[in-house]
Amino acid sequence: MSDMYTKHATEYAEVVKGNIYNALFERPSTLALLDDVKDMDVIDMGCGSGIYAEWLLEHSVKSLTCTDLSDEMVTLVNSTFGDKVRAYTQDAAKGLPLEADDSADVVICPLVLHYIEDLKPVFKDVHRVLRKGGYLVFSTHHPFADFECSTSGNYFEREHIEEEWNTIGKPVKVSFYRRSLTEITNAITNAGLVISKMSEGEVDEKVKEISESTYNHLKNNPNFLFVRCEKIA
Ligand SMILES: C[S@@+](CC[C@H](N)C(=O)[O-])C[C@H]1O[C@@H](n2cnc3c(N)ncnc32)[C@H](O)[C@@H]1O
Repeated sequence: MSDMYTKHATEYAEVVKGNIYNALFERPSTLALLDDVKDMDVIDMGCGSGIYAEWLLEHSVKSLTCTDLSDEMVTLVNSTFGDKVRAYTQDAAKGLPLEADDSADVVICPLVLHYIEDLKPVFKDVHRVLRKGGYLVFSTHHPFADFECSTSGNYFEREHIEEEWNTIGKPVKVSFYRRSLTEITNAITNAGLVISKMSEGEVDEKVKEISESTYNHLKNNPNFLFVRCEKIA
């Protein structure tokens, strides 16, 4: 896993509170796919520092479970929210093996799935854990945006990409999987989930004053993909 989410977890937690890509683009676009979460049993898979946990608690969820591969992120969540959440370390690539069947109304998984090579077990296990009528909302890298990083030139071939990101104001190595839209949607539907909404997000107008070039980039180019999937049976 990248140092971004372990060694630099605290810096990452601070930055995502107000930055452009997370606070003014990704989060509002993901939250737009949620219904009222009041009195819902919610799981935040790949919770990071707990920025979504804060929103979910403010919106009166009945229970909140937070999981992340990074011990540092789980420690941050535990120290911030104490017994308001149940947080533990879990590799989302294996799904949610500690969660009971039919136990959650909502699962969210923002900006995590591109770190996982095989999505099939993830969606299969989310389907198991969701109650009938429950749903999953996730965001991930947009396949068309990531295709710019391709070295194979074959859009349909999954590729492991290594980059350096300046998210926390200094370069940190990050690696992720680039994959086609077909691979994502097949993993969802083969798990028995039904895609009910899909969006490419909407950048907040405030970004125009902060950075016109980033605003124009996000207005004119795909960057993240936002998906809601339902468990109907
Ligand atoms: C970009 S951050 C997003 C955090 C949070 N969802 C948010 O939107 O603020 C990615 C998170 O995914 C976690 N992560 C990466 N690979 C994971 C895996 N295989 N299973 C669970 N979490 C993972 C990282 O530790 C990190 O906290």
